[in-house]
Amino acid sequence: MAEAKKLYIKTYGCQMNVYDSERMAEALGASGYVTTDKAEDADMILLNTCHIREKAAEKVYSELGRFKPLKAARPDLKIGVAGCVAQAEGEEIMRRQPLVDLVVGPQTYHRLPAMEAAIRGGARAVDTEFPEEDKFEHLPKPPQARRGPTAFLTVQEGCDKFCAFCVVPYTRGAEVSRPAARLLSEAQDLVSRGVREITLLGQNVNAYHGAGPDGTWTLARLIRELAKIDGLARIRFTTSHPNDMEDDLIAAHGDEPKLMPYLHLPVQSGSDRILKAMNRKHTAADYLRLVERLRAARPDLLLSGDFIVGFPGETDQDFEETMDLVRAVGYGQAYSFKYSARPGTPAAERAGVPDDVARDRLHRLQALLSSQQRAAQDAMIGRNVSVLLEKQGRMPGQMVGKSEYLHAVHVTDPRARAGDIARLRIVASGPNSLSGVLI
Ligand code: SAH
Ligand code: SF4
Ligand code: F3S
Repeated sequence: MAEAKKLYIKTYGCQMNVYDSERMAEALGASGYVTTDKAEDADMILLNTCHIREKAAEKVYSELGRFKPLKAARPDLKIGVAGCVAQAEGEEIMRRQPLVDLVVGPQTYHRLPAMEAAIRGGARAVDTEFPEEDKFEHLPKPPQARRGPTAFLTVQEGCDKFCAFCVVPYTRGAEVSRPAARLLSEAQDLVSRGVREITLLGQNVNAYHGAGPDGTWTLARLIRELAKIDGLARIRFTTSHPNDMEDDLIAAHGDEPKLMPYLHLPVQSGSDRILKAMNRKHTAADYLRLVERLRAARPDLLLSGDFIVGFPGETDQDFEETMDLVRAVGYGQAYSFKYSARPGTPAAERAGVPDDVARDRLHRLQALLSSQQRAAQDAMIGRNVSVLLEKQGRMPGQMVGKSEYLHAVHVTDPRARAGDIARLRIVASGPNSLSGVLI
């Protein structure tokens, strides 16, 4: 057998890109590639990219520039760009960076083996179609290797919401849900390989409406059926849109013990005027009511959110309304961003707020969010939590894992083993993690 070729993949952006990178590695595995974590050793380098903000997209070009000497030293090294920048810019990438051999979008990477063969023959290959066929039906079955205790599973992809600032509907395409039976069997397969926690992924995961054996299944139905799998201990899902948070899903937070009490529920702004301009199709009050209903179902639910400051037209008053909403909700975790105008989106036509104003707002918002995050973490001290131990920590003998609330928790105890769900009492809260002792 010929010596295996080496593949180096670097992943940017969201968790779905992490999932896709694994699938791309499996697809190229069928063409004789094994992965390496050293770009210098690779026969093929693949950047799985993100287009969400300008900085994310620009990073790709600077990274490609860094591969120039590698390619000069080894002309048979192949370089590919995958993901959302690939989808958005297509051939333009090859014009801007001649060392690129291959450009593949998020919906066509099942064709990577054929594309790889073409570029080995000296061609350059671009495929950014939105094909009829479902890529997941054309990917090889993953090898039966054992894996860590947590896994992602894409259940829904794409977005029809068209928020005025966002590129995702253009880079990922229309909303598509995968068939329920397929997901149940993939989940079963993950569990048979040692997985104890599955995070269901989708750009609008709670809009899931997949074909089931008895009609269309909602996300809540899918979660309830997945929960019947023996050995699967925990289920999470991300990312949700407030308008798709339906009654059965809210109820599942209260009555499905395997569904973890953590929910990422982006709101973007607390100003109705800005929410309208963003095309979010709900008000701040709608969101607050939803949070109340979720907490009625699951009082200890830890909420996480996404925020954008400096959206075109955002006044000081609008921003103060965002601060008010944050104070009203109390987030355990959050991500906040300065608005970035993205080519092709409706908001990009409008002037943004001055950069220094946006920067100042971001600072104030982040200070508030991190104080809430810290308070939520400190409030865990003295409490008993369940921690899915994932891997060795940095200190000798230390294990690290995640609590139900997605807090990172450290424990140093010879009885702690990866894959176990340990009952721990939290004894300390550090900057980014908690530590606990076995009960
Ligand atoms: N599908 C998810 C998240 C999409 S991107 C959802 O609907 O919530 C993740 C986050 O990036 C968004 O929630 C938003 O806060 C941020 N984001 C998206 N486009 C952006 C832009 N043009 N500028 C700044 N932040 C943006
Ligand atoms: Fe983007 Fe809005 Fe769709 Fe989320 S819901 S992916 S922010 S368009
Ligand atoms: Fe980025 Fe595409 Fe995900 S733009 S956030 S990698 S869907």
